[in-house]
Amino acid sequence: MFAATAIDTSNKPAFYNELATQLKALLEGEGDSIANAANTSALIYQMVPDLNWAGFYFLQSDEELVLGPFQGKPACVRIAVGKGVCGTAVDLGMSMLIKDVHDFPSHIACDADSRSELVVLLRDAEGVFGVLDLDSPLPGRFDKDDQAGIEKLAAIYVAASSFED
Ligand code: SME
Repeated sequence: MFAATAIDTSNKPAFYNELATQLKALLEGEGDSIANAANTSALIYQMVPDLNWAGFYFLQSDEELVLGPFQGKPACVRIAVGKGVCGTAVDLGMSMLIKDVHDFPSHIACDADSRSELVVLLRDAEGVFGVLDLDSPLPGRFDKDDQAGIEKLAAIYVAASSFED
């Protein structure tokens, strides 16, 4: 049985390094991309403070993301590329760190409590195929250390998982 171990959150880079070690252990020996996305979102939601949503959207075509495994309230199923924070991340090919979602005009509010958001890309050799999305009820919850840490967790998820059709 895997049991997440509490981590000191006062030093964010050290926190994410330790969380990366725990995620590698959690995904060790398992390649199923849906099971791994489910466990990755569960670990993040349990361990990263002050979140109200953590989960995956996968590109179903070049134009549309579809909801994958997540933790939090039920969420919007389909997001067009170029729309919302998630679709904009895919469109621009970069992570999105939104300090206040009320200042992001096309933000899609799945949970009215969300005030800040971090979206990082899932990439393999063929390019971007989805996003990992974190929401917080606190404005300004995420900074560059969170972005770097969550990008590292996303890369661990991609490396551990098989995405053959
Ligand atoms: N806020 C996101 C939509 C997904 S939810 O946050 C779970 C967006 O604007 O793309």
